[in-house]
Amino acid sequence: MVTLQKALWGIILVVLVTCPYHTQARIGTFWHVTDFHYDVNYTTTGDSQNMCWDHRVDNTSPGKFGDYGCDTPLELVTAAIQAMVKIQPKPDFILWTGDDTAHVADKYFTTTKVVNIIHELTDKLNRSFPNTTFFPVLGNHDYYPKNQVSHYGNHDY
Ligand SMILES: *[C@@H]1O[C@H](CO)[C@@H](O)[C@H](O)[C@H]1NC(C)=O
Ligand SMILES: *[C@@H]1O[C@H](CO)[C@@H](O)[C@H](O)[C@H]1NC(C)=O
Ligand SMILES: *[C@@H]1O[C@H](CO)[C@@H](O)[C@H](O)[C@H]1NC(C)=O
Repeated sequence: MVTLQKALWGIILVVLVTCPYHTQARIGTFWHVTDFHYDVNYTTTGDSQNMCWDHRVDNTSPGKFGDYGCDTPLELVTAAIQAMVKIQPKPDFILWTGDDTAHVADKYFTTTKVVNIIHELTDKLNRSFPNTTFFPVLGNHDYYPKNQVSHYGNHDY
């Protein structure tokens, strides 16, 4: 089982930026969150052979906060965002580089399901950082069908 701490660092990176300002250094902070791969169907009692996407690892008893080869349960999403607020509640900005949905086949998704997952994460982040500017970027898993986002004439985005 993955420990909470290891799992948190898996999806959160914090970077301190320094930039010269006259002769003194000004220090700013930002959060970079990426690859939530939130699995709305994750459960600790689930059959990992069906629920988890990578079967090269032994993940027969999925943990509360996720497991190797599996996508992210709601508990981990919530704990990660709570940890962000605890560690740095007022970053200068938040970079959010997408890949929000689970590694499951397109047959389990629709545009509405993908948009709902992005909406749920947006809502959680916005509630936790109501006054922070976000710079969101879409990943290949943030479109239905995945990897197929078109360059023009895109109805959804
Ligand atoms: C979650 O499970 C339900 C019920 O089996 C299924 O209809 C749905 O497509 C699944 N969604 C995802 C995103 O895996
Ligand atoms: C974030 O929350 C504020 C306050 O509730 C709301 O006005 C705003 O529309 C929300 N932004 C997004 C992107 O959901
Ligand atoms: C966000 O800004 C509003 C308006 O200035 C303020 O009332 C609120 O306390 C701020 N929230 C946080 C979490 O900083």
